[in-house]
Amino acid sequence: MFHRSSDRIDLPSLPEALRRIIDITKCNEVDAESLAHVVMIDQSLACKVLRLANSAYFARRDKAETVTDAIITLGSGYVRNLAASASVLDALFPSNAFPGFHWHHFWKHSVTTAIAAESFYAFATGCRKKNEESAFVAGLMHDVGKLVIARALPFKFRQVVETCRERRLEMLSIETELLGTNHIYIGKQLARSWQFPDKLLTGIAYHHAPENAREHQDLAAAVCAADMLAKRIEDSYLVGMHPNISLGDIAKTAGLDAQGVNFVIDEVRIGLKRCGEILSWGKDMPYDMSRAA
Ligand SMILES: [Fe+2]
Ligand SMILES: [Fe+2]
Repeated sequence: MFHRSSDRIDLPSLPEALRRIIDITKCNEVDAESLAHVVMIDQSLACKVLRLANSAYFARRDKAETVTDAIITLGSGYVRNLAASASVLDALFPSNAFPGFHWHHFWKHSVTTAIAAESFYAFATGCRKKNEESAFVAGLMHDVGKLVIARALPFKFRQVVETCRERRLEMLSIETELLGTNHIYIGKQLARSWQFPDKLLTGIAYHHAPENAREHQDLAAAVCAADMLAKRIEDSYLVGMHPNISLGDIAKTAGLDAQGVNFVIDEVRIGLKRCGEILSWGKDMPYDMSRAA
């Protein structure tokens, strides 16, 4: 199904806790206690939800002491989306290191894209504090296809990384050339097979070409602009690469002027300072081999 039978990529199965959370949040009226019951089945997930609700990012006045409190703070939609992210990372983060690929920077890229996507989307839709969580989580998960490739085809992933660095090109085109598929297509298949909400699927599937999205195009554009902005301001996870992305191109993608983009950059800087809990999810990542490259 992913071309080239010898390089077949099997999608990982849906983690049990996430399957139950998706089922329970399909009903419109899900109460925090039932959801808490399901979240608590998975201890590492329960910890993440609790830590996140108490993190500076959500600036809660009283401490959430139980998972139910945490769900009330975050809202059931957010918990479902974050549970999806946490389960995906637990299930998919590769245990291998790859020369020239920096996993910590990759995770920081995902978090930076999440914060920026939330901010761009709030601007684009003109409704702050409403529905932005879908943009945050879509930003966090936008490159999930890369995790699937790295786990399923480590040798090929290594070749993709090497070729990108040699030819100074982005991963998407090199993946397509060497694998006959890419992280966009694989991310979309994963989002479908794990029954992610439509907005999340769109953010993952169209973050390099939002103009092709049939619905939720504003969300796809927010994730695309956020991905570009993250690449402009961060250390690249492809060691030694510095993509040259102009503020003008980011503004055009986001549908904002330069002032709007600068405002988002300020929000990203503040958000990253507050994001310690989310960033620390990545503390168990494999040692990166960048120095060995
Ligand atoms: Fe991407
Ligand atoms: Fe990205």
